[in-house]
Amino acid sequence: MSRELSLAEIFQLGYYWETKILLTAVKLDIFSALDGKPKTAKEAADRIAAHEPTLCLLLNALVAMRLLMKEGNVYGNSSTAEKHLVRQSPQYIGHLLQLHHAEWNNWGKLEDTIRTGQRSVDRHVFETNPELGSNVLAVLHRIGQQSGPDFAKRLKLMGPGRMLDLGGGAGTNAIAFCQVYPELTATVFDLPATLSLTEKTVKDAGLESRIALVPGDFNRDTLGGPYDVVLMSDILHYQTFDTNAALVSKVFTHLVPGGRLVIKDRFLDEAGTGPAWTTAFAVHILVNTQQGSCYRTSDAIQWMTKAGFTSVAELEKTAAVQGVKSREA
Ligand SMILES: C[S@@+](CC[C@H](N)C(=O)[O-])C[C@H]1O[C@@H](n2cnc3c(N)ncnc32)[C@H](O)[C@@H]1O
Repeated sequence: MSRELSLAEIFQLGYYWETKILLTAVKLDIFSALDGKPKTAKEAADRIAAHEPTLCLLLNALVAMRLLMKEGNVYGNSSTAEKHLVRQSPQYIGHLLQLHHAEWNNWGKLEDTIRTGQRSVDRHVFETNPELGSNVLAVLHRIGQQSGPDFAKRLKLMGPGRMLDLGGGAGTNAIAFCQVYPELTATVFDLPATLSLTEKTVKDAGLESRIALVPGDFNRDTLGGPYDVVLMSDILHYQTFDTNAALVSKVFTHLVPGGRLVIKDRFLDEAGTGPAWTTAFAVHILVNTQQGSCYRTSDAIQWMTKAGFTSVAELEKTAAVQGVKSREA
C-alpha cells in the first residue's frame, strides 16, 4: 500500500499554472525567439508579435521555472531550453508540448463528459491537424529509438522472416527490429499521410531495401503478407473493443502457420488502478478521442483467443501480449 498524500502534495497536484505557462511559451515560440543571443523583452515581443509588458510577466515566470535566465534586462534560454525548445534544434521536443496545448480545451470538457458519459470530441487532433500529428510522431520516434532495440531483443526472433508493423507510424519498431535481426524484412502499414515521415526515417536508417511501406486503412484494406510476426504497437487504444477484436481476427489470417502476433500497448491492470501513468492516460484518451479506451491485458488475451491464437500470454506486465498461430491452423 503506497503512503497517503500530504496536503502539500494535494495542492501541488491541483496546481497547473506552470504547465499552462510552459505550453503557452512553446506555442508562442518564445524559446526560438531567444535563440542564440539573449534579448530584451521588447526585442522578444517584436519577434513574436506580442505585447511587451504582458510578455514580461511570462518571461519572468519562465526565469523562475528555470527555463530562462535573466541578467539585467535581457533574457536568454537555459541550456536545456536551447537544446529542446528551440524549433531549429535537432533535439526539439516542442511538438509534443504543442499537442498538449492543442488538447487543452478538450480537458475543459472533462466534467461534462464524466457527468453525461458523452465524449466531447469527434476527431483526434492527429486527424484535425495532421502536420502536428506527423511532427509528434517524429519526436516520439527520436525518443523511442532508445527503447526499441531492447524490446526487439526480448522477443527473440529466429532466422529470416517477414514482419508487419501495423500502424507502424514513423517505423520506430520496424527499424529497431531490422537493426537487431539482420535477416528480417519488414512492412510498415499506415495511413498515407503518416508514411511520408516513415519514408524519411527508414531512409535515414539506411533500411530502404529491407523495409517496405504500405499505405492503407488497417480496418478496411488487405494487409498483404503472409507474415511471420505482426506487431501492433500503440494503436488499439484509439479504437473500440469490437473494432480491435475484428482487427486481431483479420491479422490472424495474414500470419503464416506458426507465426505470432505481439500487441504492445498501455494496458491497465485488472483493478484499473495501475500503472499510475496509464490511469491518467485512460482519462486523456476519454477526453481526446471519440471512441478510444485503455484496455486490460485480459482484453487483448480475449481478442487473440477468440481469433484462434494459441499460447496466448502476457509477455510484459501491462505492456505486451503475444499469441501464436498454431502450425495446424
Ligand atoms: C500512436 S501511433 C503508434 C505508432 C507506432 N506503432 C509506434 O508504436 O511507435 C498510431 C499509429 O496508428 C496509425 N493509424 C491510426 N489509424 C489507422 C488506420 N485506420 N489504418 C492505418 N494506420 C492507422 C497512425 O497513423 C499512427 O501512425
